[in-house]
Amino acid sequence: MRLILLGPPGAGKGTQAQRIVEKYGIPQLSTGDMLRAAVSAGTEIGQRAKAVMDAGNLVSDDIVIGIVSERIDQQDCAKGFILDGFPRTLVQADATEQMLKKKGLALSGVIEIRVDDDVLADRIAGRYTCANCGTGYHDDNLKPKVDGVCDKCGSTHFKRRPDDNRDTVKTRLQAYYKDTSPLIGYYYAKGLLTTVDGMSEIDAVTADIEAILSGFVGADGK
Ligand code: AP5
Repeated sequence: MRLILLGPPGAGKGTQAQRIVEKYGIPQLSTGDMLRAAVSAGTEIGQRAKAVMDAGNLVSDDIVIGIVSERIDQQDCAKGFILDGFPRTLVQADATEQMLKKKGLALSGVIEIRVDDDVLADRIAGRYTCANCGTGYHDDNLKPKVDGVCDKCGSTHFKRRPDDNRDTVKTRLQAYYKDTSPLIGYYYAKGLLTTVDGMSEIDAVTADIEAILSGFVGADGK
């Protein structure tokens, strides 16, 4: 199963991708996570990306296309993968199609998580993750079962992203509507798009996505 999760910042792409990883055992390829790892490691790509990301703008297409293409070649992607936050421009979408074709692969489908703009700032401002295993939480919507302890690994260390603030959200939303939302029509026209209501509770969104994925799994026999 080769899946794209599409939606504005804070829509729930990462939250739902983590659940698909657990259920289907295929990796989540988040360009945001890959770029943040490059920033932490101080690589050349990381140095070029840091200021752009902190301001909420998009990193250049050639950088992200290159890192995704290399990542898809790794062994753990053989049975499929979830693209989270990629592609994000029409250039990236065309490159994805060409890249997969060259590798003899095709997309199973694209799921758009649709959410009203007015809830996104609260979702982003309240988000934090486990510093050890990366599990995502929210101050109000998704708390650990024991306060201050990660459900998954037991760590007591958490972190927040530097771009998760109300000022940057505006720039990120503008980038979404200008550069990424045209992909909704792009994938609709290819017959690949399904939309779920991301305003529902997290478990309800997961149930809607699982219903769609059961069709993909049947369709490509994996
Ligand atoms: P990236 O890391 O991809 O961030 P994003 O797209 O802005 O998306 P988010 O991670 O903010 O949101 P999400 O949809 O995953 O929401 P989440 O599940 O965490 O990109 C960061 C930056 O990297 C970009 O700005 C850009 O600079 C660069 N970049 C990355 N990819 C790029 C590319 N391809 N090209 C160019 N540049 C690129 O949910 C948010 C919160 O809400 C969580 O706390 C969660 O618990 C809560 N929540 C989730 N679902 C619900 C629900 N249904 N109800 C209530 N709360 C919910």
